[in-house]
This record gives sequence, structure tokens and C-alpha cells, in this order.
Amino acid sequence: MRIVSGIQPSGTLHLGNYFAMMKPAIEMQDKYETFLFIADLHALTVLPEPELLKERIFNAAVDFLACGINPEKTVFFRHSAIPEETELTWILHCLTPMGLLERCHSYKDKLANGIKPNHGLFAYPVLMAADILLYKGEVIPVGRDQKQHVEVARDIAQRFNNKYGEVFTLPEEKIREDVAVVPGLDGRKMSKSYNNIIEIFGNEKKIRKKFMSIVTDSKGLDDPKDPDTCPVFALYKLFADDEELKEMSDKYRAGGFGYGHAKQELFEMFVEYFRPFAKKREELLKERGYVESILAEGAEKAASVASDTMKQVKEAVGLI
Ligand code: ADP
Ligand code: TRP
Repeated sequence: MRIVSGIQPSGTLHLGNYFAMMKPAIEMQDKYETFLFIADLHALTVLPEPELLKERIFNAAVDFLACGINPEKTVFFRHSAIPEETELTWILHCLTPMGLLERCHSYKDKLANGIKPNHGLFAYPVLMAADILLYKGEVIPVGRDQKQHVEVARDIAQRFNNKYGEVFTLPEEKIREDVAVVPGLDGRKMSKSYNNIIEIFGNEKKIRKKFMSIVTDSKGLDDPKDPDTCPVFALYKLFADDEELKEMSDKYRAGGFGYGHAKQELFEMFVEYFRPFAKKREELLKERGYVESILAEGAEKAASVASDTMKQVKEAVGLI
């Protein structure tokens, strides 16, 4: 089975990214053939300054490696390093009905938020389809907000296979229900675009402040509280084992346990969990050459799969 997933280098990685996408993908590398990439071409849709983009790409690579990607097991690369990526994208464009893209929620949300879209933003799901299909990904670990984009990739693959014969494997999204939507500081989905994120790496004091600012209801210290509607508890669930969860929910229901206490415990769990990764990250940040060599080796492996697929595609459509 082949796993394929990617992440945009669009800024600091947060708990939503980690638990919904990074962690499941990293866990899968031990069992399956895994391709993971930094979707740097996707990041261009918002035209970041070149120096900033370079930094973000490097940081995304470091974060992934620090969190446990093993480059011996996973093909880890930047998708822009593979020219077949954009070549395939064009061919897929020609098979993509406008309506399929016009229906995408992520695009419609951006329009609703007043963003003036460029063509890249509109066409983004086709580039993502190329990411997946070029490597014949079967299982695509993502958060729930990317489900529709994987469906688009599957739809395009089907159209291609129907017209030209079976070239592509049909991809399936893999969404871990327990972490499908990680809530942010304000209780909405944690997202860079809502400015409500808790980053997984950074200054501990600043991060603690963020934990302390998670919005809760106004129940007082002595009141019994409902863990199931509390965003602090929802985040606690990401870290705790069953026993710890039971203890925490008992404390909520008993009263005499304030949201401040819960936030402090959550923060401590967080620090403990990410400490070894943070240490590895500090080391990797000093090893730019090493990180870049890993991406280059990954790109070499990815290139050989990409060129095989592209050859089949070109033969199928009549370009060879
Ligand atoms: P953001 O919304 O912060 O820009 P991205 O779109 O870069 O995040 O998401 C990268 C990956 O992380 C995707 O697979 C996405 O589904 C997942 N993800 C992001 N935020 C969350 C969240 N709050 N809950 C669950 N998954 C998330
Ligand atoms: N669009 C995804 C996101 O914003 C990132 C991504 C790009 C991706 N290409 C992919 C995810 C291919 C899975 C498979 O999170």
C-alpha cells in the first residue's frame, strides 16, 4: 500500500497539523511505503516574499524531521523539485470540469472571506491531484478539511482512466475521526487563517500564554464542569491516555477544579510531549546542509516514480 501526503510551508506548524496529518503519516511509515512532501508550489498561491518562502520551506522540513520522519523509510522531498508535477497538472487541468473546482468548499470559503482569487488558488485542487496521482497514492492521510480535495483527485483519476485506460490508482482519504477537527483558541477549527493556533514549537512562555487564553465558558472555580463541551478538554484528549482522561473528566465534573488548572495541566502535557522533538529540532536547525541533502535524496527517489508515471500518461494521451 502506498501512502502519499503533503503539507504547505505556509508558516508555523500547529497542533491541528501535527495530530491530524503529521502524526498519522509518521506512524504509517513503519508499515507502508510512504511519500511525504512539502507542497511548496501550493504556497505560491499567496505569493509570499521569496526569502520568507525559502525560510518556511526549510522550517517545514526541519519540523517534519524533528517529529519523526525517517528518511530511510519515507521518501521526503519538495514537490517543486519534480518537473513532472507541473507537467501532469496541465494534463489533468484538461480533464477537470470547471464546476468541480467551483464547488470546492475551501475555495468558496476564501471567496466568502473577501479574498480576490488568482487562478492558482482556483486551480489548486488540480495541483494537489497531480501530487497524489503522480505517485499513485492509495491512502492519503489528511485532516477533514482536505477530504473534498482528495475526492476531486479521485474524480479526476476516474475521468482519466475512463477516457485513456487504467493508469491511475484511485486514492482514498484517511481521516482519523478522533482528531478530524482540532479546535483552536476560540473553539473554531485551529487554523493559521483564523489566527487561533497553538504552534508545536516556539517560545515556551508565549505558548503557555496561548494555552491560558483558550476560550471557555464562565463557570467559576467551584462549579462542576462539562468536559465534553470544553475546548481545553478536547485538546487534553490529544495527549492523554485513557486513565489520565478519566481522572481529568472526574475533576471537571466534581467542581473545585478551575479552567486555569486544566489549562496548566494541558500545557505541561504539551511541553512533555514535544520536548524530545524540540531538542532534535534545535540540532537540525544548525544542520542546513544535512536537511537539504535529505530533501535532495528524497527528490531523486520521487523522480524515478514520477518519470515512470509520466511516461504511461504521455503514452495514454497520445503525446508519445
Ligand atoms: P491551516 O488551516 O492552518 O492553514 P493547512 O491547511 O496547512 O492548515 O493544513 C495542513 C494539514 O493539517 C491538512 O491535512 C489539514 O487537514 C490538517 N489540519 C489543519 N488544521 C487542522 C485542524 N484544526 N484539525 C484537524 N486537521 C487540521
Ligand atoms: N492541500 C493540502 C493542505 O493544505 C496540502 C497538500 C498538498 C496535500 N498536496 C497534497 C495533502 C497531497 C495530501 C496530498 O493541507
